[in-house]
Amino acid sequence: MSSVIKIAIDGPAAAGKSTIAKMVAEKLGYTYIDTGSMYRALAHKALSRSIDTTNGEELKNLLQETEIVLVPSETGQAVIVDGVDVTEDLRTQQVTAHVSAVAVHPGVRQLMVDKQRQLAEGTGVVMDGRDIGTAVLPHAELKIFMTASVEERAMRRHIENNERGIETSLEELQAEISERDRADSEREVSPLKQAEDAVLIDTTSMSIEEVARQISELAEKRLSR
Ligand code: C5P
Repeated sequence: MSSVIKIAIDGPAAAGKSTIAKMVAEKLGYTYIDTGSMYRALAHKALSRSIDTTNGEELKNLLQETEIVLVPSETGQAVIVDGVDVTEDLRTQQVTAHVSAVAVHPGVRQLMVDKQRQLAEGTGVVMDGRDIGTAVLPHAELKIFMTASVEERAMRRHIENNERGIETSLEELQAEISERDRADSEREVSPLKQAEDAVLIDTTSMSIEEVARQISELAEKRLSR
């Protein structure tokens, strides 16, 4: 019987991975790691320095001289870049529009994957992203591929933005989400893809609580093996 396990949650944009991963981690007393925030942190820094996001070499060098620290917080996870809390800045439309271009580069991904594996070492984690089950933690005891229709995902993001006082059009959100999924699925290195041994959960008509419960039950089963 294992005392702690590693849980990988992958899936397309805005499928609710972070919300669920946070809840499951809290329930199990595990560390929650949102890997998308790491790519967003690099995109944010690159944009602030007007670095061309198609230049993989420059982005890799930039990442090498960047300190990204993930800190558990009340809202889930704060992101500290070079000593500055940039958590709120990472959700802007500008960062969202450029992050997939930054995440395409193999040199960038290798450094990110190394760092993500270090963070997961020797501890119980719930890690969410696009390539966790396929590339970062291929031996994770539990892998989930979480999805929902693009209409439902856009609607959820729309409501979330409204609650945060951000005006967004539903059509624009749907287009942005579809475009990001396309870019993430078509890239050469570690594309967004369901791992063969992942459990597929379509959350389109499920509540957050139902999804969290289902994953927690699967985790309990793996823990008692
Ligand atoms: O999860 P989130 O939407 O914040 O991720 C932002 C972007 O970061 C994704 O659209 C993808 O391009 C990239 N990403 C990735 N691999 C991960 C996590 C995120 O390529 N493990």
